Amino acid sequence: MKKVKLGPRTLIYPLPAVLIGCTFDKRPNFMTASWCCIACSEPAAVAVSIKKTRFTLKGIEERGAFSVNVPSTKLVREVDACGLYSGRDKDKARLFDVFYGDLRAAPLVRECPINHECKVVHLLDVGSHKLVVGEIVETYMTEDCQVQGEPDAEKIDPMIYLTSVRQYARLGDVLAKAYKVGKGTI
Ligand SMILES: Cc1cc2nc3c(=O)[nH]c(=O)nc-3n(C[C@H](O)[C@H](O)[C@H](O)COP(=O)(O)O)c2cc1C
Repeated sequence: MKKVKLGPRTLIYPLPAVLIGCTFDKRPNFMTASWCCIACSEPAAVAVSIKKTRFTLKGIEERGAFSVNVPSTKLVREVDACGLYSGRDKDKARLFDVFYGDLRAAPLVRECPINHECKVVHLLDVGSHKLVVGEIVETYMTEDCQVQGEPDAEKIDPMIYLTSVRQYARLGDVLAKAYKVGKGTI
């Protein structure tokens, strides 16, 4: 298999497209992020990489809290809008029905099937971006998106972001059972 060198690029496929919620100047704001992942299971934590110039980062640093909202494909226009416009110039929160948990500083999007309410535990300066690690203090799920108490991928219908072509996609077919299909190959 012949390989070509591309130089240092950030090409991990696929990525999620989530909405990061914050409060700045007592106002809720939402930013689209694809550089977001699970950071830890105990305590449950997430990490999101945010460019230093983003309004959202100011809010997160100011209040020490944020939210990670997992949208369904139905919200594709709203998600794109939250990545196109800045909270400096637009009121993006008016796109959503916003609710709050105990932290009060992490606005959550009711239309998103899953919401994580997080408090900042680490901020790592990486260069152009800061890696924000948040401990999840509560997770909310839309009742209709569960099957036997567990989130159901088909019902959630999450969005996938394809980096280099700048496209949103949805989940395809199930390929195999994880922690199972690889058994006996070694
Ligand atoms: C699909 C998509 C993914 C994005 N992912 C990130 C990301 O992971 N980190 C980041 O800093 N900006 C990301 N952005 C850019 C911000 O969402 C965008 O600059 C936004 O306007 C920032 O809003 P704010 O100024 O209100 O914080 C992404 C944009 C899009 C459309």
